[in-house]
Amino acid sequence: MKIIASNFKTNHTRKSTLRFCEELEKFATQNQAQQQIIVFPPQTALLENRFKTFQIGAQNAYPAQNGSITGEIGLEQLEEFGIQTLLIGHSERREILKESQSFCAEKFDFFAKRGFRICYCIGESQEVKKQGIEAVLEFLESQFEGIALDYPHLIVAYEPIWAIGSGVSASLEEITQIHTRLKQKLGKIPLLYGGSVKPQNVREILQIHSVDGVLVGSASWEISSFCQILDNSRI
Ligand code: 13P
Repeated sequence: MKIIASNFKTNHTRKSTLRFCEELEKFATQNQAQQQIIVFPPQTALLENRFKTFQIGAQNAYPAQNGSITGEIGLEQLEEFGIQTLLIGHSERREILKESQSFCAEKFDFFAKRGFRICYCIGESQEVKKQGIEAVLEFLESQFEGIALDYPHLIVAYEPIWAIGSGVSASLEEITQIHTRLKQKLGKIPLLYGGSVKPQNVREILQIHSVDGVLVGSASWEISSFCQILDNSRI
């Protein structure tokens, strides 16, 4: 079963998230969606996990039960909504908010100990890409430092930074090449691709043997476009 995840990033309000989720539930029920669907709304729009056809996940959380970490939410806040799925290591948090590998690993460890399903993101910059495939793999390897790859509720998302929000995804050859190599390391861990996935390219990306699903940003924010992605990902 393919995994189709939507990362809202800093988009949508509580009201529009609710509308999105209700429409998604209707669509997925009517179409008997065959995919595992996850929606990551912004923290202010977290919803109780009451939907039958998909899970709500959080884009971020601080590795603490609660405490004095201004601006962050911890386990207690996630538990109130029954959230059990978490994104860790997204490149925007690594790049913009300067989250280090050791902090990503600390978060991973904390939430893995509490049984969360973790969607752990990795991905290289254009600069690293220019240095060739072996440099890319070495860089990606460094993003696994401190991450327990034998954790049973782990999903890995490969999201090359240069493809995110660019409108142009990595080519099928590039995805195949990196995913094949990553799979040798990850074995049975589901491996998603992210970076300019849209209704027009999702089918061919999912047809790649080593792609177990997609993590979608901008093309998932409009419900009609996300439903189109779900439609086109029945393969
Ligand atoms: P885009 O689909 O907008 O390129 O974003 C991908 C992403 O970062 C998902 O986490």
